[in-house]
Amino acid sequence: MTTLFSSQRLFFREFTEEDAPLVYALNKDPETLRYLHELPTTDETVALEVITNRIIPQYQQYGYGRWAVLLKENNAFIGWCGLKYRPERNETDLGYRFLRSCWGKGYASEAAAACLRYGFEHYPLSIITARAHVENLASLRVIEKCGMQFSCLEEVDGCPVKTYQLRHPGLA
Ligand SMILES: CC(C)(COP(=O)(O)OP(=O)(O)OC[C@H]1O[C@@H](n2cnc3c(N)ncnc32)[C@H](O)[C@@H]1OP(=O)(O)O)[C@@H](O)C(=O)NCCC(=O)NCCS
Repeated sequence: MTTLFSSQRLFFREFTEEDAPLVYALNKDPETLRYLHELPTTDETVALEVITNRIIPQYQQYGYGRWAVLLKENNAFIGWCGLKYRPERNETDLGYRFLRSCWGKGYASEAAAACLRYGFEHYPLSIITARAHVENLASLRVIEKCGMQFSCLEEVDGCPVKTYQLRHPGLA
């Protein structure tokens, strides 16, 4: 599968249906889902549905989506990061999720910055949004390190979240 873009230690590519075992490995870990409105995935079939019904249609409709993130040094899958268009809000958000074994190495910060840069450079986006649960301190730190600006505190699916936005650098 073709690399879309890369950063210092990481490369990014689109998910395919063959990646169900990788998405399953991520989504079966309750600790990874701790601050998300989501139950752990119980089998690979559900992970395949996530890829075919939620991830791939984003690539087809908008060009961008949640991208698989792999290490340059050994091609190992470590998680996903990327953009998602939310029609109900008419906004594009930044999201990420990494295998617990890969936390604390700066990968999320590196991936988030690379996806924001790639998104603004390749798609007609004027603003990208990010949200994280108020207690998800690691995620909030990633968002702030990307230079996103705090916008508001709101409730989403019954959870208190902080919302941030980043304007296209050319418009800032
Ligand atoms: C959030 C997540 C992506 C962070 O990944 P990561 O690769 O460990 O992040 P990084 O190593 O790039 O950096 C995280 C930053 O948060 C800080 N951090 C980590 N845990 C923290 C905590 N409990 N309290 C405060 N800061 C914390 C780190 O020190 C680092 O900041 P620094 O560079 O200034 O030292 C990862 O924990 C994850 O996948 N969580 C599950 C999914 C999720 O919650 N996604 C976000 C949904 S909004």
